[in-house]
Amino acid sequence: MNQKIQSLSGYLHEYQKSIHQPEKFWSRIASSFYWRKSWDRVLSWDFKGPDVKWFENAKLNITENIFEKHLFTHGDKTAIIWEPNDPNEEAIHLSYRQLFEKTCQFSNALEAEGVKKGDRVIIYMPMIPEAAIAMLACARTGAVHSVVFAGFSSSALADRIEDCQAKMVLTSDGNFRGAKNISVKAVVDEALEKTTCVETVIVCQRTKAEVQMKTGRDLWWHDVIKGQPVEHQAVTTDSEDLLFILYTSGSTGKPKGVVHTTGGYMVYSQYSFLNVFQYDQDDVYWCTADIGWITGHSYIIYGPLLSGATTLMFEGVPTYPHVGRFWEIVDKYKVNQFYTAPTAIRALQAHGLEPLEPYKLDSLKVIGSVGEPINEEAWHWYHDHIGKGNCPLVDTWWQTETGGIMISPLAGITPNKPAHASLPLPGIQPIIVDAEGNELKGNNVEGNLCIKFPWPSMIRTTYGDHQRCKDTYFSTYPGMYFTGDGVKRDHDGYLRILGRVDDVMNVSGHRMGTAEVENAINEHPKVIESAVVGFPHDIKGQGIYAYVICDMEGRTESGLIDEIKDTVRKIIGPIAKPDQVQIVSGLPKTRSGKIMRRILRKVASNDFSNLGDTSTLLNPEVVEEIIKGAKIQ
Ligand code: PRX
Repeated sequence: MNQKIQSLSGYLHEYQKSIHQPEKFWSRIASSFYWRKSWDRVLSWDFKGPDVKWFENAKLNITENIFEKHLFTHGDKTAIIWEPNDPNEEAIHLSYRQLFEKTCQFSNALEAEGVKKGDRVIIYMPMIPEAAIAMLACARTGAVHSVVFAGFSSSALADRIEDCQAKMVLTSDGNFRGAKNISVKAVVDEALEKTTCVETVIVCQRTKAEVQMKTGRDLWWHDVIKGQPVEHQAVTTDSEDLLFILYTSGSTGKPKGVVHTTGGYMVYSQYSFLNVFQYDQDDVYWCTADIGWITGHSYIIYGPLLSGATTLMFEGVPTYPHVGRFWEIVDKYKVNQFYTAPTAIRALQAHGLEPLEPYKLDSLKVIGSVGEPINEEAWHWYHDHIGKGNCPLVDTWWQTETGGIMISPLAGITPNKPAHASLPLPGIQPIIVDAEGNELKGNNVEGNLCIKFPWPSMIRTTYGDHQRCKDTYFSTYPGMYFTGDGVKRDHDGYLRILGRVDDVMNVSGHRMGTAEVENAINEHPKVIESAVVGFPHDIKGQGIYAYVICDMEGRTESGLIDEIKDTVRKIIGPIAKPDQVQIVSGLPKTRSGKIMRRILRKVASNDFSNLGDTSTLLNPEVVEEIIKGAKIQ
């Protein structure tokens, strides 16, 4: 734990070292890990390719840095506390030794079923301990996991299975979420009808729901682990071997598989966890994300477990069986660091202070926020009523592609400024540019956020399509990684993230491409064309607003609207269902046929002022019609 920064001057000192001698800096941080063979070179890079390698030719297994490294000193320490959806069901505490044994056992089972280094394994599971074991066992055997959020539909799952040509799917019978008992295996069955690459499905029993088991393909988790030894020789991987693929939405086309490799991700997820949250050895840490997202990967599983931390995994939802459930769990386990999304805060804030009354919340030392800009009102409510005014609030900015937290206060070290992600972590070199890519130096500037130097956990490629990685992140401003976010550096030099500047929405902290939702809407047989934009939403941050041109023959508007919403739910999943659908006769277009989204965004936000000069449009008359239609929504 000698990598922990202790003070503001310590941070400033480390930051300077990290940018003046990055290789020396990261070599020192990395040397506290266990490598089977050390690296020949710390970093080689070029952002044109892009081609980035960290800890070149080093050999390791990331799970040896979770288990073998910690077993002698704290084998009996709790690694994972699992809190079930139903508070009356018994929680599970797994020590590092128990988690190790279960991981080994399942690693042996994976190998017995033919999984080899480099094979892709899809994990489509609820928040149960086996999901963590599945990820760790993949890493131990050198297989590449790709976790798909269990709320995604069968076609979204099929797309991901097909894209990475997965050999195996790990899943469960069902999923308890709040009052719902959701089928999971049935979704996998449907997805597998559309794909041909999967040879084996392993099903973990959770809800005891009846499921179809296909002979020769489907196996029960409890059967495959039977008789498997609780020891396993970890497979040696290269620092740049793939650790996982995680699909995320962009402004164009289908979601892309963001590729993370082993050595750099290991170093950065651990280093950032320890420093941002200032984790102490006896602390209980809780991140409420789902393992289907990058936050679950880096800050429920890898970062905390690599640090020897106790990490809490919660199966349920914040409002079940009551709206005080989060706070009940905080008190029950005396949680010290609590990390959640602004959307959850705003949803709980809407219930007022009464649900907080039964709880002390006095164990909390640090509270954190992730996934979307946190508005000042939510920031203050979280700080004052959950943190009781004396917990540092870490507003952490990062992305699936960055692998780890990039800009954030370090808890208790960086002075807190509401709604500001504040300062970059050591090793991170943000730069603000204008539309032409010119650097905006100094304070009081606003522009696009780029990163000008590599960091260990950065995206290496988009799976199967390197050109897409280059086009999306490294071409807008040559020589820099472009984040897609707008940012402001204020008069103190603190950074405030302003949100996406591209066609990506952020709905309840989930990233959603407008094109992806449009493609789903267009699948409805009566839809001719659609345009989707985000609009400000009190709880979700952004809601989804769809303008749709339909063939109305023989149809009612309300019937069609419901069907369109349902089509999106089926094709992507409930998180992508539009909040508003407006049937229109045309979309405002420029003379070259481009949809004027600026106008659509304004109308969706109930802002009808300054629509700009619409006379140059191909069809200015539709603007009036759209405004009229929107006002009656
Ligand atoms: O727009 C930023 C927003 O979420 C995007 C990344 O989404 P995703 O890859 O799904 O990862 C979310 C969890 C790391 C960013 O481009 N975002 C994330 N954190 C913040 C944020 N916006 C403002 N403040 C944050 N703290």
